[in-house]
Amino acid sequence: MNEVLQIIKSRRSIRNFTEQQIKEEDLRAILEAGQYAPSGIGNQPWHFIVVQNQELLGALSDASKQVAKNHKIEFFRKLADNKEFHAFHKAPTVVIIAGDEQTPCSPADCAAATQNILLAAEALGLGACWINYGLFVFDGEESVHYKKLLNIPAGFRPFYSVALGYRKGEVPKAAPRKENVINFI
Ligand SMILES: Cc1cc2nc3c(=O)[nH]c(=O)nc-3n(C[C@H](O)[C@H](O)[C@H](O)COP(=O)(O)O)c2cc1C
Repeated sequence: MNEVLQIIKSRRSIRNFTEQQIKEEDLRAILEAGQYAPSGIGNQPWHFIVVQNQELLGALSDASKQVAKNHKIEFFRKLADNKEFHAFHKAPTVVIIAGDEQTPCSPADCAAATQNILLAAEALGLGACWINYGLFVFDGEESVHYKKLLNIPAGFRPFYSVALGYRKGEVPKAAPRKENVINFI
């Protein structure tokens, strides 16, 4: 099978990482892949924040869990009450993908960049997981504080994040694909 198609199919969300930090050259290649995503009107409205400080990631996780305690989705509320749960799965590196709030396609553009990051990680033999839970903090009162700590540019909002690291344990199997999701006209 074509190598790109193989990578798209073999990518899985990885939530178990070794403590070993990823290589700088891999991180650079992954970030470059993010920057090569398509964007509406070619706006490239993204900004990437790399976080490798475990104390800060733990604080973001705790603050997000605090916000999630009042989430309308029960699954998220339950995770918030689970002391063992770390929103970034204790990954050694997290990339936050922030987008310019004034640019019309910003969420879609940033989602495209996020997927590129996931695929680049898979291509380089790293484990990765798209993480929204750890950004709940930006829906709460501590948003301004954490935006400052992360040096998020003015007018940008953290939309998504990706946990990155070396895989520990088995790669989970893909769920069966839903059927009847294609119309040919
Ligand atoms: C928008 C979005 C948000 C997600 N947020 C989280 C998250 O906060 N934590 C997590 O562990 N996985 C998260 N995931 C990963 C999904 O749970 C995962 O993609 C899904 O279960 C399918 O598994 P697969 O990625 O292995 O195919 C997210 C995925 C997407 C697309």
